[in-house]
Amino acid sequence: MQRHFVIVGILVIVMAVLIYIGLDSVGLMPVQASTQASDIDWMWNLEVIAMSFLFALIVVPLVYSLIVFRRREGDTTDAEHMEGNTKLEITWTILPLFVVMAFAYLGAVNLAETRRVDPEAMVVNVTGLQWSWTFEYPPVNGLTVVSDELHLPVGKQVLLRMTSNDVIHSFWVPEFRVKQDLVPGRITELRITPTLEGNYKVRCAELCGTAHYSMEKPVIVSSQADFDAWMTEQLALAEEASQTPEGRGEALVAASGCVACHSTNGSPGIGPTWLNLFGRQEALTDGSVVTADEAYIHESIRAPQAKIVAGFENQLMPAYDFTDEQIADIIAYIKTLK
Ligand code: CUA
Repeated sequence: MQRHFVIVGILVIVMAVLIYIGLDSVGLMPVQASTQASDIDWMWNLEVIAMSFLFALIVVPLVYSLIVFRRREGDTTDAEHMEGNTKLEITWTILPLFVVMAFAYLGAVNLAETRRVDPEAMVVNVTGLQWSWTFEYPPVNGLTVVSDELHLPVGKQVLLRMTSNDVIHSFWVPEFRVKQDLVPGRITELRITPTLEGNYKVRCAELCGTAHYSMEKPVIVSSQADFDAWMTEQLALAEEASQTPEGRGEALVAASGCVACHSTNGSPGIGPTWLNLFGRQEALTDGSVVTADEAYIHESIRAPQAKIVAGFENQLMPAYDFTDEQIADIIAYIKTLK
């Protein structure tokens, strides 16, 4: 009997090590690009070790028994009757209890570590909407840069203050490992300290409607110098744009995520393209035809369901609460799209 325990014990250890090496070499994880990612991967690694051992602990004795203790030919006797084993039952209750408690403790410490606050963190306001992202940077001299790309300097913590315009979305950059929901009417926070320069993507990780699959935008981690250069360039563009109606309109469109559904280059989208829109004859679902002039575009922004262009019967667009001046700016911008 002793012999079987020794053999099974050795096999369990060998098997656990092999499984761990196998799982580790598959490379399930994308590159590690944030401080938070290294904390989470450390915890994940411990869990893979535990999983490898538990799998071996169950499968090795099972297969060993099937092979070594199988019924011999001609053996018709009953198996030995067992009444339970108190010592064994106490052991397999107490041991896992301590293991689970240890993991709970490590998990809590690890979670606190991924949320550690750097008072110097740069604050970026993130808005999720069907089906795009906008990122608003801290104002400089009264000018605010709003982009649909998230640019971050390496080695500096960023605090994302996030909300949604419509339904629940979820901010997820796999290389940063952390993930957080964006909830309408609420601000949720996420802290990330990028550690590796590169181009990543934020993906929406919450099923949020027809174009959920395409709700992704670039995340660019660069040196502080490159980030500052980008910011200076964006500020200059914002300054220039604020001088003309079409410039203000374009900035407003970018900040509102309109292009998630309306292309500006003629490619098909959830809604009609804006290329050559102004002055176009639009066939409506009720069979009538309308000219896309100021009044029509104004109405379509304030009350999108009033007139539906044929072929776009989904009626997905929410009403937008822009001022008359803002709508005039947007129309000025649409007029430039030829
Ligand atoms: Cu937003 Cu899925």
